[in-house]
Amino acid sequence: MPVTVERLGVEHAGVALDMVQRLLKELGEEGDELGTLDSPGVLEAWTRSRDAIHTFVARDSGGRPVGIMTVVESFAIYTNGNYGIINEIYVVPPHRSSGVGHQLIRAAKKFGVERRWTRIDVTAPESDRWARTRAFYAREGFRLAGPKLKLLLS
Ligand SMILES: CC(C)(COP(=O)(O)OP(=O)(O)OC[C@H]1O[C@@H](n2cnc3c(N)ncnc32)[C@H](O)[C@@H]1OP(=O)(O)O)[C@@H](O)C(=O)NCCC(=O)NCCS
Repeated sequence: MPVTVERLGVEHAGVALDMVQRLLKELGEEGDELGTLDSPGVLEAWTRSRDAIHTFVARDSGGRPVGIMTVVESFAIYTNGNYGIINEIYVVPPHRSSGVGHQLIRAAKKFGVERRWTRIDVTAPESDRWARTRAFYAREGFRLAGPKLKLLLS
């Protein structure tokens, strides 16, 4: 089924929050240990940083949202400047394996080229249960780039 991919502003944040909630539920213990979303906090942060948060939504021919992706810009010397990070990508189950994820990644690549990013990073869950997700990223051209660590501040 054909989909269109477009930017999603903070005024429609509910669509993204809903899908990320579903993503976290699917990830289960492999999702972030912060657990349930602090929706007012997310909205406040998104509004404050609206120019730095790039959210894309895939819609079916009826305009219904079927996928979501959040991307931010980062910077490092070792990446020779600006690069992108895909923090969340999710396609609703009935629309999977029909190219929606591919179109979202394509939108991220196009956006990154326009902003002169040198690369795009993404983190994938490690267990066998998520082998298909890693296969998806590999098919889209991503290569393994080492473990990720984090330090929680709250
Ligand atoms: C990974 C995901 C974004 C890909 O979107 P998509 O629209 O299914 O992707 P495409 O149609 O372009 O490509 C399909 C490929 O995605 C991969 N994939 C990963 N998880 C999948 C799932 N649960 N169902 C179907 N395909 C999945 C497979 O490699 C699949 O290829 P196949 O059909 O030959 O097996 C989507 O399947 C999804 O939301 N999965 C669950 C959440 C997830 O893994 N998010 C990633 C961040 S942690």
